[in-house]
Amino acid sequence: MSVKAKAKRETVPPAAPPQDVTEATGMDEVWIEGGRKLKGTVAVSGSKNATLPILCATLLAPGIYRFTNVPALRDITTMLELLSLFGVKSRREDSRALFVDSTSIHNAEAPYDLVKTMRASIYVLGPLLARFGEARVSLPGGCAWGPRPVDLHIRGMQRLGAEVEIEHGYIVARSDRLRGSVISSEVSSVGATGNLLMAAATAEGETVLENAACEPEIEALARFLADMGAKIEGMGTSRLAVTGTKALYPADAPMIPDRIEAGTFLTAAAITGGDVEATYVEPGHLDSILAKLEEAGASVQVGETTVRVRAPERLKPITVTTAPYPGFPTDMQAQFMALLSVADGTSTIVDTIYQDRFTHVAELQRLGADIRVDGNCAVVQGVPSLGGAPVMATDLRASAALILGGLVARGQTRVSRIYHLDRGYERIEEKLQGLGAAIRRVRA
Ligand code: EPZ
Repeated sequence: MSVKAKAKRETVPPAAPPQDVTEATGMDEVWIEGGRKLKGTVAVSGSKNATLPILCATLLAPGIYRFTNVPALRDITTMLELLSLFGVKSRREDSRALFVDSTSIHNAEAPYDLVKTMRASIYVLGPLLARFGEARVSLPGGCAWGPRPVDLHIRGMQRLGAEVEIEHGYIVARSDRLRGSVISSEVSSVGATGNLLMAAATAEGETVLENAACEPEIEALARFLADMGAKIEGMGTSRLAVTGTKALYPADAPMIPDRIEAGTFLTAAAITGGDVEATYVEPGHLDSILAKLEEAGASVQVGETTVRVRAPERLKPITVTTAPYPGFPTDMQAQFMALLSVADGTSTIVDTIYQDRFTHVAELQRLGADIRVDGNCAVVQGVPSLGGAPVMATDLRASAALILGGLVARGQTRVSRIYHLDRGYERIEEKLQGLGAAIRRVRA
């Protein structure tokens, strides 16, 4: 591959200038004056959901790791705080590079106070069990949009030979030596696949994960574990075969681009009738989202590591059904709900991953959207325009949907509880300003 071609495949943006990553307080808001068409180029950050399990994998092999394209997000800070309880040290080299030192780690419990704020904390279960033969991890409890069980994580560990009990709200798993097994479940779970991959990496013998999650974030974890010396076949497929080895060692890795952040900006282009190019993306990860944008009437141009979306004044209605990768991601469902609320006709959105992930509906209705929910299905009757209003973010992707609604609504939209946004979108208001949006963060 020529140097030029290599540069073209670059999916890691250069380090950004030092930034203010002060977290939003409970009173901070994002104010938007809607009605501007977004235009320009936006650099997509590294993937939150790929970074989280990869950070936990550092528990498997003591040593020093260097990660690049690590997004500056609250969930990443929370994960590093959790890992510090086990003795993992970390230091940012610049806005994107992160050193992690797991040389002198010890076992400890993953406490409720942290786990309840970020469910991805469950990712320490597999590595702790593999490394120390015992793990104590708080059950995460409920989530803003209903129950999100962790039974598949627990059953998977039991299949690997662990004894698991629930003690005072904690998962307590013990095993002298995990043993490979065939693990199959009807539901494809991103988190359980990641956890079991990490647990199986050092187990005795072969583990086969059937109906494994194929999400790019899990493929990225598998590739990272392979770089650490793990023996994994079937990466990126729904059948993963892991032959355990004790000889794991530290590795370095660039984080893959965040497909949901990219999808959110391209949807922002579409909802405003704009013209936006997202750069540093992996277009293949966006196929299902781009197909739906095209079906709705947007024009999509795909480059090596760029995607450009141009949209007419008004899009056509479509049907969207979320599904495990490579299907349409549930993490883009709320943003498409905003998009379709101003389409020219009636759209249907079915979420097959979560039965009740619709907390954004009531807030979009405050902007004038016409949405009816029946079970896990929402019928969106497109209206000619939305009107700005004060709205409240209820979770990460719901916040993004409200921002999108605000970008197209007439007048001012004030989004409160924006600390949810900081969990998963790096400098979102700055990036949107760069595309011409009238948006700002108002600190309390
Ligand atoms: C991951 O969550 C993501 N989080 C979520 O992104 C995403 O919505 C979800 O995958 C689905 O794509 C991270 O990667 C950190 P699952 P996870 O286990 O792993 C059921 C965002 O906005 N299930 O794949 O927790 C579950 O209830 C977040 O960035 C069980 O029944 O999701 C759901 O219906 C939010 N038992 C389905 O499986 C279990 O033990 C898929 O969930 C585990 C899951």
